[in-house]
Amino acid sequence: MSSSPALRMEGVRKTYQVADEEIVALDRADLVVGGDEIVALIGPSGSGKTTLCSIAGGLLTASQGTVVVGGNDISDYTSRQLTDFRRTSVGFVFQSVNLVPFLTARENLLVVSELVGRGGRRRRKDAVARTAELLDELGLADRADNLPAQLSGGQRQRVAIGRALMNGPDLVLFDEPTSALDSQLGDQVVKLIRDEMKDRGTAAIIVTHDDRITHYADRTVRIEDGRISA
Ligand SMILES: Nc1ncnc2c1ncn2[C@@H]1O[C@H](COP(=O)(O)OP(=O)(O)O)[C@@H](O)[C@H]1O
Ligand SMILES: [Mg+2]
Repeated sequence: MSSSPALRMEGVRKTYQVADEEIVALDRADLVVGGDEIVALIGPSGSGKTTLCSIAGGLLTASQGTVVVGGNDISDYTSRQLTDFRRTSVGFVFQSVNLVPFLTARENLLVVSELVGRGGRRRRKDAVARTAELLDELGLADRADNLPAQLSGGQRQRVAIGRALMNGPDLVLFDEPTSALDSQLGDQVVKLIRDEMKDRGTAAIIVTHDDRITHYADRTVRIEDGRISA
């Protein structure tokens, strides 16, 4: 798993058109993330971090360049192919946790497998077991039936991490996962992220302003004005 990279970006450029202005969000971005590597991505606000994660996760397409995730060259994928790719190959954890508010913690995980596969009783059973296992690992076994509003910020973020791991992703993208948490909780969540990724040998990019995160990462990559510098 660790032999081939989880992500290879080469010469990626991304521009946004706003009225008659072209905003260059990423420019000649090169980045390789190893199969089980955790990379911290740091840079000022507006430097292109969210854009980079969105492209690596197939939420946005690059204007130019090559993007290969877990061996799939997604550079020229259609939006339909990208939808499939997102369901099966990547996980996302955002700053604003965005759990489904009317589903319990357990259901927020289960819904992923329902999106991935056309049912089958066997599959459903596997998904239920996997959900229970993840919730247990994340210390949420006794919170499985709570709605997001009944959970603390840290617990919600843990549910989001579990959800991102449900499909056995090649790469998980964390966009400022601790910025809404106080520093002690943030620390716990970062440790948890590291342990979960390392236990599974799953690669991750963690966008952060937080120096403590870089401490838990294998490597730190800096970005400024859409340009990456190691
Ligand atoms: N949907 C969009 N439309 C126009 N400009 C955008 C859009 N998203 C981001 N940008 C611009 O692209 C640049 C990079 O943004 P972003 O990737 O969100 O940076 P970061 O996550 O590092 O704060 C910024 O100048 C931002 O204003
Ligand atoms: Mg951002």
